[in-house]
Amino acid sequence: HAADAQMTDLMTITRFVLNEQSKHKQSRGDFTILLNHIVLGCKFVCSSVTKAGLAKLLGLAGEINVQGEDQKKLDVLSNEVFVKALISSGRTCILVSEENEDPIFVEPSQRGKYIVVFDPLDGSSNIDCGVSIGTIFGIYLVKDLNNPTVDDILQSGNNLLAAGYCMYGSSCTFVLSTGNGVNGFTLDPSLGEFILTNPNIKIPKKGKIYSVNEGNAKYWDEPTAKYVESCKYPQDGSPPKSLRYIGSMVADVHRTLLYGGIFMYPADKKSLSGKLRILYEVFPMSYLMEQAGGQAFTGKQRALDLVPKKVHDRSPIFLGSYDDVEQIKALYAASA
Ligand code: AHG
Ligand code: MN
Ligand code: MN
Ligand code: MN
Repeated sequence: HAADAQMTDLMTITRFVLNEQSKHKQSRGDFTILLNHIVLGCKFVCSSVTKAGLAKLLGLAGEINVQGEDQKKLDVLSNEVFVKALISSGRTCILVSEENEDPIFVEPSQRGKYIVVFDPLDGSSNIDCGVSIGTIFGIYLVKDLNNPTVDDILQSGNNLLAAGYCMYGSSCTFVLSTGNGVNGFTLDPSLGEFILTNPNIKIPKKGKIYSVNEGNAKYWDEPTAKYVESCKYPQDGSPPKSLRYIGSMVADVHRTLLYGGIFMYPADKKSLSGKLRILYEVFPMSYLMEQAGGQAFTGKQRALDLVPKKVHDRSPIFLGSYDDVEQIKALYAASA
């Protein structure tokens, strides 16, 4: 009857977070309300992504974002949904989105104490061919609610209160950490609720998969090139690793979290700081990896120790299984 008991004891994400937050005496439910609005945005994007092809939501929006990328219709739509959902929560004071050049300062009457940094739709290049995409977010506390400033955003990842992602794939999966480990929830479309399916996720200490865009090999620096070489032609007699690269960070990181291995977006001669954005891609995924027992490294330092100078700053990133990242750290240390 254990299964039946589990069936009737629905651990929704709201109930799970309320339980967690109730451990903080001063908690007044603000975080849970904020999270519920993020979850609402994800449910909307999940439903839009699922029927994008039918609802003529594929293709370009005809605009260019601050990244110099062609915005897809779903990029713009999901961004608007998240911005509106977060402001209407009444719990945010600053929003940073990949799709907005400047941070959004919420007007005082609707202001709350949280800052949310987010990538509303990650893996946009995969939208039109139906490959998994996602949403990535991080949550900080503002220093002074009466005076939110850009300095509240340009801070190290060590101040993150929580981070997570939602992956729109064969199922809609929400992965979250509020600082006490990582938990995975799956959307039950018949209930419209995210149900706890992967409690206390821990990444394997060592993996058999490496994940990188080999098409950039010509531009890699020596430590990256040496590391990838060691994945293909191991010197210690171990079998070569498998290469898995989806091109959506959320999907590549989710597989790495569950199966182990390493995900890399290295610096290269074309982009000296790599491609992934610190605030809403590198920090949230690095936070989750550390919470799951893995680690995240930039080629120079622990990723969460970075302090971005500008809102859309980028950084190289190597994250995943603890032992695998140790190897790349040793190669960079040797070349320093
Ligand atoms: P976004 O779609 O939010 O702009 O992010 C795309 C990122 C990330 O999802 C992925 O890991 C990376 O771009 C893939 O880049 P390449 O196509 O250069 O490998
Ligand atoms: Mn983009
Ligand atoms: Mn992205
Ligand atoms: Mn994006």
